Amino acid sequence: MQTAMIGGGYVGLVSGACFAEFGTNVAIVETDPDRLAALREGRIPIYEPGLDKLVADNVAAGRLTFGDNIEQAVQGAEAIFIAVGTPTRRGDGHADLRYVYAATEQIAKCMKDYAVVVTKSTVPVGTGRQVSDLIRRVRPDLDFDVASNPEFLREGNAIGDFMRPDRVIIGTDTTKEGGAHRAMEIMRRLYRPLYLIEAPILFTSLETAELAKYAANSFLAMKVTFINEIADLCEKVGADVHDIARGIGLDNRIGRKFLHPGPGFGGSCFPKDTLALVHIAQNAGSPMRLIETTVDINDTRKTRMAHRIVAACGGSVAGLTIGVLGLTFKPETDDMRAASSIPILHHLAGAGATLRAFDPAGMEAAQPLLPEEVVYCHDALDAATGVDALVVLTEWNEFRALSPARLRELMKGDVIVDLRNVWEPKAMRDHGFQYESIGRPLIEGPVRK
Ligand code: UDX
Repeated sequence: MQTAMIGGGYVGLVSGACFAEFGTNVAIVETDPDRLAALREGRIPIYEPGLDKLVADNVAAGRLTFGDNIEQAVQGAEAIFIAVGTPTRRGDGHADLRYVYAATEQIAKCMKDYAVVVTKSTVPVGTGRQVSDLIRRVRPDLDFDVASNPEFLREGNAIGDFMRPDRVIIGTDTTKEGGAHRAMEIMRRLYRPLYLIEAPILFTSLETAELAKYAANSFLAMKVTFINEIADLCEKVGADVHDIARGIGLDNRIGRKFLHPGPGFGGSCFPKDTLALVHIAQNAGSPMRLIETTVDINDTRKTRMAHRIVAACGGSVAGLTIGVLGLTFKPETDDMRAASSIPILHHLAGAGATLRAFDPAGMEAAQPLLPEEVVYCHDALDAATGVDALVVLTEWNEFRALSPARLRELMKGDVIVDLRNVWEPKAMRDHGFQYESIGRPLIEGPVRK
């Protein structure tokens, strides 16, 4: 089976490599010359564990190819995926669909035989139908179907999420006369290996599949925001947020995941998708106040975390040196999009702090986004050397393994603000730190000098 994947970005590359691994031939079309050159040389332009090997194996097996020619890729393809970017439009917060429609038009112009055109990018409700209308306008002669197949991949775990998904959602045009059977049959064939492992594959309407993606991400963003607010409350009443997360998470109706408190959610999906859902709902005349509030709480949380660091340093950071561990929006990625570190570091630099930062993967991506004066360090211990205070912003595993005794020796001051709860309060206090974390009771520690 032949498929085309338009867009060799995160979604296109991971999905393309995984479909190839399933045994399908995939032609990925990437128009950015630098990115294409990198892919052709076997260099993977994103950080995703296991992806380099998956790509290399499938290229070697002849199932995965890279090119910049849509016409070539589309010839003979039974499924054509659109996996181009849908950035948030400046000004109104809507998803910018320029690239989706440009790709659609190009595909339509060069399609010869029947194919199902599938949107894989996260697109507003109604886009699948627009894509269908556009193809019909450009090529009234063509026999085709459209489908919506949103991805639910987490960065850092994308291959596992693709190969062993909780579910796959495929929307087709249920209003089509005679049904979209051909499209459904092609999609079933593409995902055949998942039937073998009994992963649920749901066929829905186009609109349902499109909205399901926003609903899933917004629900998870709301769950994170909920536990963040519970953590704040825990600090006021002397309760422990981790015990609460466990206590409520063991109720299957709630579930244990996504109940880890932190400095607010970031990344390429949650901030964009919550905002998009707010707009979709407002435009449809059915506003989603829960999500509006989630967006608002999460935005203000980042500044509040910066204030919290300043307060932990005694009310002012002017003239102080602060070490920062972790910059990316979460561990196991080099992605800095909407990372909490951006507003937090700008605030601290603006308040007169000198910043020494380390991140295991994100330092290159971080530099253009963070204040110019940030000093980038070789490793975590280097970032802690001589600092008055140390702040944890991303829960990379290697930070958990750091020796508190060694940190104590290297640091000048004794303040630690752990916004991801990577360490145990008691252990850190026993080592003489003024240790603050999120939503955990304050245990008696050394008296601030
Ligand atoms: C998310 C969805 O999980 C995925 O299904 C979708 O396809 C894309 O968006 P991703 O953005 O890679 O994936 O990251 P995710 O692991 O979901 O984390 C999102 C943000 O929430 C991160 O900033 C993370 O730090 C934060 N988070 C997550 C928490 O603060 N606490 C948690 O318990 C979980």
